[in-house]
Amino acid sequence: MKKRVGILTSGGDCPGLNATIRGVAKALYARMGDNVEIIGILNGYSGLINGDYKEMCEDDFRGILTLGGTILGTKRTPFKMMRVVEDDNIDKVAAMKKTYKEAKLDCLLCLGGNGTHKTANLLSQEGLNIIGLPKTIDNDIYGTDVTFGFHTAVDIATDVIDRIHTTAGSHSRVMCIEIMGNKAGWLTLYSGVAGGADAILIPEIPYKIEKVAKVVESRAKSNKGFTIIAVAEGAMTPEEAKMGKKEREAKRAAEHFSSSAYVAQQLRDLVGVEARAVVPGHIQRGGSPNAYDRVLSTQFGVHAAELIRDGVYGVTVALKGNEITHNKLSDIAGVPKLVPPDNTMITTARNIGISFGD
Ligand code: F6P
Repeated sequence: MKKRVGILTSGGDCPGLNATIRGVAKALYARMGDNVEIIGILNGYSGLINGDYKEMCEDDFRGILTLGGTILGTKRTPFKMMRVVEDDNIDKVAAMKKTYKEAKLDCLLCLGGNGTHKTANLLSQEGLNIIGLPKTIDNDIYGTDVTFGFHTAVDIATDVIDRIHTTAGSHSRVMCIEIMGNKAGWLTLYSGVAGGADAILIPEIPYKIEKVAKVVESRAKSNKGFTIIAVAEGAMTPEEAKMGKKEREAKRAAEHFSSSAYVAQQLRDLVGVEARAVVPGHIQRGGSPNAYDRVLSTQFGVHAAELIRDGVYGVTVALKGNEITHNKLSDIAGVPKLVPPDNTMITTARNIGISFGD
């Protein structure tokens, strides 16, 4: 029997989205040939709400394994607004169900991060046949060891730290490199270790600036004139940690400080060192996926095609150990995977003398 499979990419992009789309498509065409039709929903849930979709053909999926971004486009459509009717008077959930029906979909694949998975779960509970695929450079989706996009971003962030390392050494400066990740510190942790940072500051472990200053001072005493600090976008002091998200953001905005600029400013005030902040930003989400992500994306895509063959819906694909498997959407949606303080990578870092500022 012919199946019509919808695919959308939602939320922030990352390397590996196209590789995953290709993996799904190739596996579906290989198994089902003319018995499958793939419908690309444009710009994430926004396209599903507005009925923006297109029939795709096998050729559309050629040559995209190495391509960054997403051929379908993406958009942030916040989960918390899904049930809210705004000025445009559109009932978003009803509109998404209508598009699904109009496009005669048998199932819908939702490639995205935490927000995407919350909406995927909502649509599944509304009776649609949904399969999630976990993407994000933040690696913060519960139930999977790793998300696609993460390891490419680790490579990029590590390269940034390596490049900063040499200039920090030449100038004997303290360099605070801001790595993406507002809630989860995985990317900062892994790239900080890979890039040989002296301190790693992540949202899960509030830092005391005095402790970070000690790292700078003790390096200076042992004639190491420079210090590398990997600062997560969401790194915070214990005082900031006590604040609500909105209050913390307002404080930062009023002071014109990003997390790395704030660390650098505090170190200048406290130790009198020459401290600079570097924000690589969206570079960390750009460009071609690395080999690890191309392989993982392909494995995830093939597993999703198997789920479609078997009619298994209401799940999201996952990697556990060496096994590609899946979790129920209802078990993982809305549960962010943060760095546990006793995570082995934290212990590894501490064991080689990296400070977390705690
Ligand atoms: O979720 C991925 C991510 O890059 C986060 O690390 C970062 O906090 C956020 O997206 C940035 O979002 P935007 O692309 O909307 O600025």
